[in-house]
Amino acid sequence: MLIHKISEVKEKVKEWRGDKNIKIGLVPTMGALHAGHASLIKKAVETCDKVVVSVFVNPIQFCPGEDYNEYPRTLDKDVELAESIGADLIFAPSPDEMYGKGQRLSNDTLAYVVPPFFYVNKLCGKSRVGHFDGVCTVVAKLFNITGADYAFFGQKDAQQLVIIKKFVNDLNFPIEIVSCPIVREESGLALSSRNKYLSDEGKKDALVLSKILFNIKACYEKGITDVSALKETAFSYLTDKHDMEYLEFVDKDDLEDKTKADNNTLVLIACRVEGVRLIDNILLA
Ligand code: PAJ
Repeated sequence: MLIHKISEVKEKVKEWRGDKNIKIGLVPTMGALHAGHASLIKKAVETCDKVVVSVFVNPIQFCPGEDYNEYPRTLDKDVELAESIGADLIFAPSPDEMYGKGQRLSNDTLAYVVPPFFYVNKLCGKSRVGHFDGVCTVVAKLFNITGADYAFFGQKDAQQLVIIKKFVNDLNFPIEIVSCPIVREESGLALSSRNKYLSDEGKKDALVLSKILFNIKACYEKGITDVSALKETAFSYLTDKHDMEYLEFVDKDDLEDKTKADNNTLVLIACRVEGVRLIDNILLA
């Protein structure tokens, strides 16, 4: 039989597999689960017949000097939370299990999934060199290990989400990526496992990230579209407690820089508070 279209090949393979038509969902995480992760698991449970939550602090996505050793590890609590929402399986491998005992974790000796330079050489990828190679590699492994039909990711890590969608598309991974909205505290602070590093005072200072974004969106809604003018509105919020890394305006799908804001514009911010690197973003739609 002659087939020219990928979609038809896939359909044929599915037909050959039989009609056990269950949908498997995957929620990849690094644990220390909070309400943001919980929202992804909830969405997966609603969408799929079986849900796998992975909990793995992935060594190859941490750059030298980052918080791999300090990253919070709360597996018992994570299992309890994930199961209470309806997850069927929690996959929590050790690094040896994931990468092979004795395997040197470097791209000299380990095959990596390397996302395109244009998507990586900006925003978080600029300061976290190699980070997205590590993310894409572990995510690809999780897709292959679980054979999931759907994988759920948060808009909180917007660059990560765009890059994962890109490699899934470019490499024809048979999985659908579902994007889930950012969960925030009532104060506006985006939930993050790294918020645990902040003091009460630091948490207040951290509110500046969401305040800057909400204000930019309000200004855009009033008709300001010039990106330099919108960027300038941020300065009045910043104090010596804030070590700003970037405030950027890009296209939500291809991360192309914008000079005029429109409804497809994603505004992303990264800023250190008490030495903790925090990120947030908002879509101007
Ligand atoms: P982690 O930081 O644990 O996040 C796991 C997932 O939860 C990501 O898709 C992230 O975007 C989502 N998430 C985190 N905080 C959120 C919030 N406040 N609202 C909505 N979603 C939120 O991202 C990673 O782990 C890793 O890089 C991983 C993809 C697991 C690969 O190791």
